[in-house]
Amino acid sequence: MSKPKSEIVRKGYSKIAKAYHKQRDKYNNNLLLTKISKRFPKGSTILDLGSGTGVPIAKFLVNKGYDIIGIDFAENMIKLARKNVPRAKFIKMDITKMKFKPNSFDGAVSFYAIIHIPREKHACVYKKLHRILRPNSHMFLNASGYDVNGWEGYGKDYLGVPMFWSYYGPKKTSRLIVNAGFEIIWSKVLKLGGDKQFWVLAKKND
Ligand SMILES: C[S@@+](CC[C@H](N)C(=O)[O-])C[C@H]1O[C@@H](n2cnc3c(N)ncnc32)[C@H](O)[C@@H]1O
Repeated sequence: MSKPKSEIVRKGYSKIAKAYHKQRDKYNNNLLLTKISKRFPKGSTILDLGSGTGVPIAKFLVNKGYDIIGIDFAENMIKLARKNVPRAKFIKMDITKMKFKPNSFDGAVSFYAIIHIPREKHACVYKKLHRILRPNSHMFLNASGYDVNGWEGYGKDYLGVPMFWSYYGPKKTSRLIVNAGFEIIWSKVLKLGGDKQFWVLAKKND
């Protein structure tokens, strides 16, 4: 694979946007979203990192009355998201290069996206997130649930395109999140369709 890892992910998701959207319903996250969204103040602004087609995450949160800003670097995922959830705002942006003012958001979510970011960049992403969240706000995300020190690899046929994944196991992910300044409120390895994921609810304290 000679293409940069992030280009494999970006181009891949842009190509499969429609197919991804079609099969996304299999992974119903509504139970978790209902539980977690109670942590976000009513009517507040939430950042969705790797927002995909906007369904089900941004759509669920918009319907609960939150202002959602989704970021994703795959052009066609963004296009579909704008169509699927017109009440949210979607920006084409690379998570690893995101630039928002400090204390911009009341909460953040990221579902099935961190696992596509080269793992040596994860610490930096958590630090950026800490900076742009307001004090006392929560983030809820998943990383890999597999108990590995570090793994990355390619798949040749993910819905018909090549794909790249990269991750640490739950212990190291927890350490990175705490080192970024968060307090972990709740975490658990769950298999909600697909692979085992490590779900983390963390708080930026005062
Ligand atoms: C498995 S999909 C998940 C989409 C959505 N969160 C969901 O739950 O359906 C991963 C998404 O993350 C996006 N993504 C991966 N790496 C990214 C990066 N570095 N910057 C922005 N988006 C990224 C992909 O383009 C893709 O839309």
